[in-house]
Amino acid sequence: MAKLWRCEICGDPYVGDEAPANCPFCGAKKKFIKIAKDAKVTFDVDLNEKDKANAEYALKVEVSNSAFYFCAAKKTDDDEGRLLFKALGKVEAEHAAIWRKILKLDNVPQGNDVCHVSNQENLEDSHARETRAIEFYSKAASEAKNERIKQIFNALVEVETDHLKLSEERLK
Ligand SMILES: [Fe+2]
Ligand SMILES: [Fe+2]
Repeated sequence: MAKLWRCEICGDPYVGDEAPANCPFCGAKKKFIKIAKDAKVTFDVDLNEKDKANAEYALKVEVSNSAFYFCAAKKTDDDEGRLLFKALGKVEAEHAAIWRKILKLDNVPQGNDVCHVSNQENLEDSHARETRAIEFYSKAASEAKNERIKQIFNALVEVETDHLKLSEERLK
């Protein structure tokens, strides 16, 4: 029977018979997906200066990466590659929304990042972007004073690592 689930990282609800293996919105692992009424979700956190600066930087990274993936999706004539870039663009947009909520902003800033004409260069850029995101999120998680901020950064390290593995598969 269908149940209402909720992701503890992005806070989004999901209806399904079973908890999905990953959040369909932010990509967080199954361990973060709970029966909605039991899910512990808050975006109302007291940020110290470092955590706030890291959250602001994370928002910029996600906005840029999301815009990049949607751009890259349009540049490839390979169907599967296009679908993958589109999926990644949506997940990164959801990550941007997490940081928007944490920073209590009304809107996500507009991304104006550009991508390359060649699909190969976009795949390489994707790899570089995910590598940088993982490095930054790992550092930000270790610096985080607030447990919720630490939890989000660590969860996103796992998600971006999945993205990196996918891009490594496609670069082969
Ligand atoms: Fe999620
Ligand atoms: Fe992301």
